[in-house]
Amino acid sequence: MAKQPKSHPILETPRLRLRQFRAADAEAIHDCFGDAQTMRFWSRLPHSKRIETERAVRNMTDCTPAYYRFWAVADAATDRCLGLASYHDGHIRSKRAAIGYMIEPSRLRQGLGSEAVGAVLEYCFGVLGLNRLEALINPANAASQALVAKFGFRCEGVLRQHLRVGEEWRDEMMFALLASERGG
Ligand SMILES: CC(C)(COP(=O)(O)OP(=O)(O)OC[C@H]1O[C@@H](n2cnc3c(N)ncnc32)[C@H](O)[C@@H]1OP(=O)(O)O)[C@@H](O)C(=O)NCCC(=O)NCCS
Repeated sequence: MAKQPKSHPILETPRLRLRQFRAADAEAIHDCFGDAQTMRFWSRLPHSKRIETERAVRNMTDCTPAYYRFWAVADAATDRCLGLASYHDGHIRSKRAAIGYMIEPSRLRQGLGSEAVGAVLEYCFGVLGLNRLEALINPANAASQALVAKFGFRCEGVLRQHLRVGEEWRDEMMFALLASERGG
């Protein structure tokens, strides 16, 4: 990956400000992590206690930019945290990473997920100079599949029992977008 800025980069879109997480975001992001529907296809079980979300926020605040970075997806007007966006599983030599994203249940289908993901793609391809971005998506997660398809991600196949969540093995679909395919 290209040389990283030392401070946490802020990504701005018309309605959103993607910024570093802070402890005070735990209350708002718990609307996501504590919600069974939002967490249905996530890599972890829903949080039953606020303290689990507080721990997650601490982990998302401290990033290792060569491998992963999380942004709080905040309302540009109020700064309330409405979700998260990330790149993770970064492979420096191969110039590739995976992306993750989540929007709170009361704000779905307003184009906010697309705005946040668009900003992360811009950062990963433009600033980090990545060549390939991946999104591992549950076969039943229609919203996530529709979101990445908008940006030109293509499904490359199904990874069988790729994820273990609680006691359950889950398949994941590998979606990917190459730098050369952007805007195409
Ligand atoms: C995936 C997620 C971030 C989408 O957020 P969002 O803000 O509702 O997305 P957008 O409003 O930008 O919609 C993006 C596209 O997906 C489509 N879409 C959204 N929800 C959908 C659904 N439930 N079923 C089918 N399509 C859906 C929209 O119509 C839109 O396509 P369009 O612009 O062509 O109409 C949100 O559903 C979420 O947080 N899910 C739970 C967490 C999760 O599963 N994250 C992904 C893990 S891989």
